Amino acid sequence: MILITGGCGYVGSHAVARLLELNQDIVVLDNLSNSSKSVIKQINKISDKKFKFIHGDLNDRTLLISLFKDNKIDTVLHFAGVKSVSESIKFPTKYYLNNVAGTINLLKVMEQNHVFKLIFSSSATVYDPENQIPWKEEFSTDKLKHPYADSKIMIENILKSICNINKKWKIGMLRYFNPIGAHSSGLIGEFNINKNTNLMPNINKTFLGRQNSLYVYGNDFQTKDGTGVRDYIHIEDLISGHLRARDFIQNKNGIFIWNLGAGKGYSVLEIIEKCSTIYGKKINYKIVDRRPGDLGEYWADIRKSEKELNWKPKRNLDRMISDTYKFIIKSKNNLF
Ligand code: WQD
Repeated sequence: MILITGGCGYVGSHAVARLLELNQDIVVLDNLSNSSKSVIKQINKISDKKFKFIHGDLNDRTLLISLFKDNKIDTVLHFAGVKSVSESIKFPTKYYLNNVAGTINLLKVMEQNHVFKLIFSSSATVYDPENQIPWKEEFSTDKLKHPYADSKIMIENILKSICNINKKWKIGMLRYFNPIGAHSSGLIGEFNINKNTNLMPNINKTFLGRQNSLYVYGNDFQTKDGTGVRDYIHIEDLISGHLRARDFIQNKNGIFIWNLGAGKGYSVLEIIEKCSTIYGKKINYKIVDRRPGDLGEYWADIRKSEKELNWKPKRNLDRMISDTYKFIIKSKNNLF
């Protein structure tokens, strides 16, 4: 049985849908702080295979203990966590409690139940900004950045440390670049657009008329058109990377790190242009000041993932945006 923490979230729900399609037995734990139970109904339209849902928090040790007692968990895909950079700056301890303490709780109960296979959702934000582009897994991640990234670095260090002490652990750490897009059915995607500060949810809010204009945070970076360049990867390609990583660790002890990105960068203006074309409506935007802490450009070197996981992102930018469009049209009444 696979435990999926954060299985109602954007990335977690796509993992649940894919694993159900592969006929896996799944239990989902989600505190619904950044997601909604309505996602379960949508997942059930994609696959008629049922799965267990437990509404709860990783910091509820009693609940975790009973979850592992009642379910024969073999592997954990750990998506649960909070991920807004700006919010983390305002409420740092929320990020350490949710992300770091929650993970420590999970590790403790896994160990007590002799469950040692874990896939952890890390982030490209752990890399030190002065690393040369494209970023490789062995590049430095030492510097403090903001509580979101710092919480991910702390967890990565805890995982490295426990693997060093206890050779039974089999851990894959996946460093996400910028996941966008939606399930090909249009039934699941990034539902939580109101609170989300990322580019695509804000483009979608503008397209849906929930805000007058998109703010473009700076056009004076040393990039192709002055706006921020990022490595966008289709959510379905990201999930394929998870499945490969899960297969890889089945019989390999230790800790392994992989970048999950497309290996190329697009600027904010290029994304806006692509959305305007595919959405069939011009996305209004306004150039404003840079967002504190934003870097100009970075993207992934994915050769290690391609080689070791025998994985390659397949879906291009047109597919990322057209799948997003299909989702927001189909699910616009369920967005929150
Ligand atoms: C992308 C580009 C912005 C919003 C995030 C976080 C974290 C991570 C995903 C997992 C940048 C510009 C954005 C807007 C804009 N999750 N932008 N107007 O900042 O690359 O990083 O990545 O780890 O959530 O680290 O993603 O989508 O916020 O920004 O101009 O309204 O779009 O300046 O250049 P980011 P993002």
